[in-house]
Amino acid sequence: SESYPNLKRDSRFKEVTADDVKFFRGLLGEGSAVLDGVTQKTGEEDFEAYNADWMRKYRGQCRLVLKPETTEHVSKILKYCNDNLLAVTPQGGNTGLVGGSVPVFDEIVLSLSKLNTVRSFDDVSGVLVADAGVILQQADDYVAQHNHIFPLDLGAKGTCQIGANVATNAGGLRLLRYGSMHGNILGLEVVLPDGTVMDDLGTLRKNNTGYDLKQLFIGAEGTIGVITAISILCPQRSPAVNVAYFGLESYEKVQEAFKEAKKQLSEILSAFELMDHQSQDLYRQASGAKLPLENDYPFYCLIETSGSNTDHDSEKLNNFLEHVMGEEIVQDGVVAQDETQLQSLWACREGISEAGQHFGGVYKYDLSIPLGQLYDLVIETRERFQKNGLMGDSDDFPVKEVIGYGHMGDSNLHLNVATRRYDKEVEKAIEPWVYEWVSKRNGSISAEHGLGLAKKEFIGYSRSETMIALMKGVKGLYDPNGIMNPYKYI
Ligand code: FAD
Ligand code: MLT
Ligand code: ZN
Repeated sequence: SESYPNLKRDSRFKEVTADDVKFFRGLLGEGSAVLDGVTQKTGEEDFEAYNADWMRKYRGQCRLVLKPETTEHVSKILKYCNDNLLAVTPQGGNTGLVGGSVPVFDEIVLSLSKLNTVRSFDDVSGVLVADAGVILQQADDYVAQHNHIFPLDLGAKGTCQIGANVATNAGGLRLLRYGSMHGNILGLEVVLPDGTVMDDLGTLRKNNTGYDLKQLFIGAEGTIGVITAISILCPQRSPAVNVAYFGLESYEKVQEAFKEAKKQLSEILSAFELMDHQSQDLYRQASGAKLPLENDYPFYCLIETSGSNTDHDSEKLNNFLEHVMGEEIVQDGVVAQDETQLQSLWACREGISEAGQHFGGVYKYDLSIPLGQLYDLVIETRERFQKNGLMGDSDDFPVKEVIGYGHMGDSNLHLNVATRRYDKEVEKAIEPWVYEWVSKRNGSISAEHGLGLAKKEFIGYSRSETMIALMKGVKGLYDPNGIMNPYKYI
């Protein structure tokens, strides 16, 4: 994991003492709601799941984890922390990819995992109201019983939490169809750093009465408050879902396929994902799975349709397939025939995240780039590593592969440098070059993962000084003592 040579613990923050632990134990009970390494002999390994991030790249030194069970608990914890200048890192499923979910030094981890009840679901409006700590998969399973779908899906769904999904404004695999959290969230319950509860848990779509304050917490990455519950609009679940996986001979053809998919599949298109050959090969090596197509192609794409009428969708999909195969836009393809096959096609896409870090470590760049230029960056990055001698087949080289994949339908590229070990040289070779590259094309240096600790230095490549100053003003207003997720983001 990385050390933080450029960061110093902020001496304004108090260290956790036995008295503090006593207060929290009194509030939460003696049971499992407190993981305490301050007054008890608790080993490092017990804290590993809270201190180390998913990539095993960032590691904090927290010695106290609190697991509130109610909003009132959260409120009392934050008020106490604010009064006593104790720094806090809110944590969901700890699957974040920018080092935002783990402490940097000894911040208290406030885990939302025990705040995990569905409060209500209205099957007329499709509005789900649920605690922040509900796991995404469970939220989707819950609304599925009522023929609805949670409007977000991503590879970490078995672990990540819906409150954190809002806190990161997660994008995921179906944003193209259902839109972002900014549109789907109807209300939030948030505890501010001083313990005040902002109850804006409305369930209606329209409410033009002044500033839409809840929007600020969407994507704030836990820097101005803790989300304790969300109200979200869930669409009807489509009974007819089809998934196809294609091999294509160039990035130009991928763009043509995207154009055709929009034209011919129009309202039933629910995902259009890009995977380059290198990403699929790495997935094959890491998982041992067999790839869906007989031959290798430079590019692959995964297309999903979701509609209400099986016959209608099949007819559309067949016409589309006939066209793209006939015109040689795609070279080969397969359409899932059953649920198992559908899952295994999706696994080729969702499994890339794991594959990226499987061989040691990964440097992740999550970028918005205009579609026409999106893949140029992958080619140039690969060339850069080939030239500078950092990439090669043997273990002598830190870089194993450069892969490009992502949410093509949203102009969102995931450029990953899969390495055999974390090595500062690799990072130096690509940063800030990659951000300059993106900035020159008016892209975003973080399309969906956020800034966290990993990208905080680079915010200026995507936001003007005026905007950064306004953000700092917001931070100061909501969190004057700076206790919320310090050292990150802002
Ligand atoms: P954590 O990682 O625990 O926290 C994330 C951030 O939110 C931290 O800054 C934390 O402090 C803050 N936070 C957590 N809970 C709260 C709360 N209740 N209130 C306030 N702040 C809070 N992301 C995408 O956008 N799209 C994808 O397609 C995608 N796919 C992924 C696939 C895999 C395999 C993995 C490992 C990650 C993926 N991610 C993706 C990134 C990650 O899953 C998302 O950012 C997710 O929303 C994080 O949820 P979490 O519960 O793990 O939150
Ligand atoms: C994805 O789309 O797979 C995610 O955002 C996670 C990743 O980039 O690894
Ligand atoms: Zn993604």
